[in-house]
Amino acid sequence: MLMEDGVAQEWTPQSWREKPIKQVPEYPDAGALATVEARLKTYPPLVFAGEARNLMAQLAEVAEGKAFLLQGGDCAESFAEFHPDNIRDTFRVLLQMAVILTFAAGMPVIKVGRIAGQFAKPRSDDFEMRGAVKLPSYRGDNINGIEFTPEARIPDPQRLMQGYLQAAATLNLLRAFAQGGYADLHNAHKWMLDFVDRSPASERYEGMSARITETLEFMAACGVTSETVPHLRTTAFYTSHEALFLGFEQAMTRIDSTTGDWYDTSAHMLWIGDRTRQIDGAHIEFCRGVKNPIGIKCGPSLKPDDLKRLAAVLNPNNEPGRLTLICRFGHDKVETCLPPMIEAVREDGLKVVWSSDPMHGNTIKSASGYKTRPFDRVLSEVRTFFAVHRAAGTYAGGVHFEMTGQNVTECLGGAQAIEDEDLQKRYHTHCDPRLNASQSLELAFLLAESLRAEKIKRTAGR
Ligand code: PEP
Ligand code: CO
Repeated sequence: MLMEDGVAQEWTPQSWREKPIKQVPEYPDAGALATVEARLKTYPPLVFAGEARNLMAQLAEVAEGKAFLLQGGDCAESFAEFHPDNIRDTFRVLLQMAVILTFAAGMPVIKVGRIAGQFAKPRSDDFEMRGAVKLPSYRGDNINGIEFTPEARIPDPQRLMQGYLQAAATLNLLRAFAQGGYADLHNAHKWMLDFVDRSPASERYEGMSARITETLEFMAACGVTSETVPHLRTTAFYTSHEALFLGFEQAMTRIDSTTGDWYDTSAHMLWIGDRTRQIDGAHIEFCRGVKNPIGIKCGPSLKPDDLKRLAAVLNPNNEPGRLTLICRFGHDKVETCLPPMIEAVREDGLKVVWSSDPMHGNTIKSASGYKTRPFDRVLSEVRTFFAVHRAAGTYAGGVHFEMTGQNVTECLGGAQAIEDEDLQKRYHTHCDPRLNASQSLELAFLLAESLRAEKIKRTAGR
C-alpha cells in the first residue's frame, strides 16, 4: 500500500492494529486477551501453506472457466452443535452437491467448507434489545455466549482457545473423511441422508448415483478402480471462514518455510465481510499481507471504483485465484448491481473468481418473527447471477451459501414446502438461517442445469 509520499508501507502481522477497525468486541480484560493470543501463537498451524497454494491454483482454474467453486457450511459454527455426526452430514451434503455438479458440468468442483473455524460474526447492531432489556450482541461462540444474559454476553478470551481446539478436531475428521475412503466415489449412493429419502431431489440424486455406479462398473471392467486410480478414493476439501477477529488471525499467521511468505494458517481461504471491507481499514490491511486466497463480500453498497481499489491493494500482481468476488446483492438487486462490477473488472483487466452468495441479500423477518430466507429468492438470485454473466460473456464460477446436513427448518419453501409455522420446529442456527440437506440438493440441481447449459453453449461455439 502506498502512503501519501509514495513510499510503500510495511506490512507486518500486526500492522492492522494501526488502522481504523469495525466490529470489535469489548473485552473487559485486555491483558487476558493478549495472554491467550500469545499462547495461540505457539500452537500448531491448522493448515499447511502448501495446501493454501494448491487451493489458489485450483481457484485460478475457476477464474479461467475450467472449474467450479462450491463454498458452503454454517453461518456460525457453535460449541453446542460440535458433534461428529454434524461434521459428517455437512461434509456429505457438500460431497453430494459436488458430485451433482461434476456430473452435469464435466468439470472439477473445488470444495471449500465454511467450517473448522467459522465462529466470529459481524453484527448490524452492537446491542440487542428484548423488551426493555438491552445487552451487547452475540458475536459468535469464540467471542461471547448466545444466551441472553449479561454474563454470557461478556467477551471471554478463553473462547478463542475452545474455538481453536474445535477447529483442529473438526479439520482432523474432515481430513480423515476426505482421504480415508469415505469420499470414495463408489460410495456416492450411500451418501443419501435418511430424512431426504423421499424428497424429489433425493430421487433425482438416486437416479444419478445409479448412473455413476454403472459408469464405475464399466471403468472397473477396463481396469480403472480406486486401487489403480487413487483419485476415485480421495478428494481435496478446503476450509474457510471470515477473517473477522484479527487478534486470532494474527496469532495464526506464520512464515512459510518453503517460500518465506506469510500465511494465515487458520484456514486455507479467508474472506472479508461486507461490513469490514473499508479500503483504509484494519481488515484489508491484515488480508493484503497474507498469501492465502481471499474472498471479498460484494454487497449493494460497494462502488465499482472501490472494488478496483480493493483489488489493487489485495492483489497488486493480478494473480488469478487470489481474489474471489462473493456477490450478495439480493434477488431483486443483482440484476442492477452486478453489471457495473463486471464492467469495473473488465476495465482493469482483473483476474477474479465470480461467486454468488444468494443468502445474505435475501434475509427477511417472517410474520411469526423468525429471521428466514425464502428459498425461491435464493434460487432466483443464483439464476439471475448466471444470466447476467451469460449476457456479459463472463464466467459465473461459483456459489457461496449457508447450509447444514441437519434436517432444520430455517429457510422457507423448497420441495418440503416449509412454511412460516414450520420454522419453530427445528430452528437451530446460531446466526443466519441455513439451507437444509434437501434444499441444498435442490440448489445443486439448479446449478447443474445452468452449468450444463453453459457447457453446451461453449461446445457449440467451438
Ligand atoms: C456471512 O457470510 O455470514 C456474512 C455475515 O456475510 P456478509 O458479510 O456478506 O453480510
Ligand atoms: Co451468515
